[in-house]
Formats: sequence, structure tokens, C-alpha cells
Amino acid sequence: MTKPSLNVKDLHVSIEDKEILKGFGIDVKGGEIHAIMGPNGTGKSTLASALMGHPNYEVTSGEATFNGDDLFEMEVDERARAGLFLAMQYPSEVSGVTNADFIRSAMNADREEGDQVSLMQFIRKIDEKMGTLEIDQSFQHRYLNEGFSGGEKKRNEILQLLMLEPKMAILDEIDSGLDIDALKVVAKGINQLRTDDFGCMIITHYQRLLNYIEPDYVHVMMQGRIVKSGGPELAQKLEEQGYDWIKEELGIEDETVGQE
Ligand SMILES: Nc1ncnc2c1ncn2[C@@H]1O[C@H](COP(=O)(O)OP(=O)(O)O)[C@@H](O)[C@H]1O
Ligand SMILES: [Mg+2]
Repeated sequence: MTKPSLNVKDLHVSIEDKEILKGFGIDVKGGEIHAIMGPNGTGKSTLASALMGHPNYEVTSGEATFNGDDLFEMEVDERARAGLFLAMQYPSEVSGVTNADFIRSAMNADREEGDQVSLMQFIRKIDEKMGTLEIDQSFQHRYLNEGFSGGEKKRNEILQLLMLEPKMAILDEIDSGLDIDALKVVAKGINQLRTDDFGCMIITHYQRLLNYIEPDYVHVMMQGRIVKSGGPELAQKLEEQGYDWIKEELGIEDETVGQE
């Protein structure tokens, strides 16, 4: 089986005519975990939203392919059905749809009629994954993300990840709002998926999650593109020294600090 691959080249994306991504490129293959780090407002969430096809984000030039297919030619649901998964920085609350129903219909969305996940299979799997993530069973029957705390929403995103088993995941600030125990649980969940058939982009402001999930590559994003790449040691250096040394090294004047 060929490994999944996500290839992004010289991507430019604007929001309301303001260019946010300015030549972003990355290649992620199955078996690889890439960490994308960078100051607030540098375009990390914009990248995630643009790749998933959020309508507010206009791709003005550049390319993105998923397993060789032009991502921007695919409908949003097609991208998900092809195995691309996004855990959003700010997951939406959906009233009237229970968590279990939501996950089960997402699992069945890419399956043929005769091949749907049975209720028994589903229950067995969700019980197991909720156990792994230490999520209380009552969360199955609550409306999606409604009234969930920040940390509960993040754990729930990882529950969806473990249930759907996508080929490629983009996890946007999955560690924000998690205490150290929850962080370890989330890392355990992600590490369970590490095979050649799964690639992952972990977008994070902080290095601490990377203590529990060792990335193969670390990229620093500034002003809408990757300005430096390395291994896990790069994340360590950012944790100790911040981003200023990179700005100096590259002669970047001032990174505009926007909203997170
Ligand atoms: N929906 C939006 N409308 C207008 N500006 C936006 C919107 N989303 C993001 N931005 C702006 O785009 C820039 C990048 O934001 P974002 O991608 O969220 O950065 P990061 O995730 O790296 O913190 C910021 O200046 C932010 O204010
Ligand atoms: Mg963000």
C-alpha cells in the first residue's frame, strides 16, 4: 500500500483581501509527524482552515495535493472522506446532535451501504477509545461540544481522531487548555495512531506536547511561511529561547501579533 501524502507548494491564502499565507510549503508522508510552531497571528490556523476548505479563506495561488489529487478541486466533505482530518483550535458546539451520533455518521460517511459500522461494533470501539482517553461515558450522549470545557473539547477531538482513523490529520493547538495529565492522555491517543499509514501535522504554540509525542520534523512558521526546519532539538531551543533569535537570524523586523 502506498503511504498517504499531503504536499503543499507555495501556498498563498487571503482573508478579506489581506494576505496571510505567503508561500507556505510542506510535504507530509505516512509515518511522519511534523510539528508546526510559530508566534500567534502568523497564519497557523489559517493554514489548517484553508487546507480543509473553509469558505472564508481564499486560496490565491499555490498548490496542495492529497495522495496526488488536487485538494482545492475537492469538496469539503470529499476531503474528509478521502481521509483528511482537522482538529480545530476552537471546535464548534452543535446543539441537538449527540456526540455518539455525530461520530458514527462521520465514520459511515465514507462507507458503502452494505459496509456501515454496526451499532455493536461502534459501541465496542467508542467504549474502548473513551477508556484510553479517560473520557466519561456520559459524553457519548451529550450534544457535540455543548457545555464542554476547553480541555474536554480537545479530548473529544482526539476521540474523533481515534474513531475515524484518518490517513492524515492536522491538529490545531490540540494541547491548549490541557493540564499535564490530560496532555499525556492526548499524546497517548495520538501515539497509538503512529504507523506508516498515518501522517500528522501538529500545530502548536508550545513545545510541551512534544515532550510526549516526538516529532520527526519541526518547522517554524513566521509571516505566513516556514522560515526554519529541523528536528526535535529545534522545538527544545524555541522553548528555551523563544522566537527572537530566529527573527534576528533572518532579519525579520517585527512579527505582527494578531489574535491567536
Ligand atoms: N476570519 C478572519 N477574519 C479576519 N482576519 C482573520 C481571520 N482569521 C484570522 N485572521 C487574521 O489572520 C492572521 C493569522 O491568524 P491565524 O491563522 O489564526 O494565526 P495563528 O493560528 O498562527 O495564531 C491574524 O492576523 C488574524 O487576525
Ligand atoms: Mg491558531
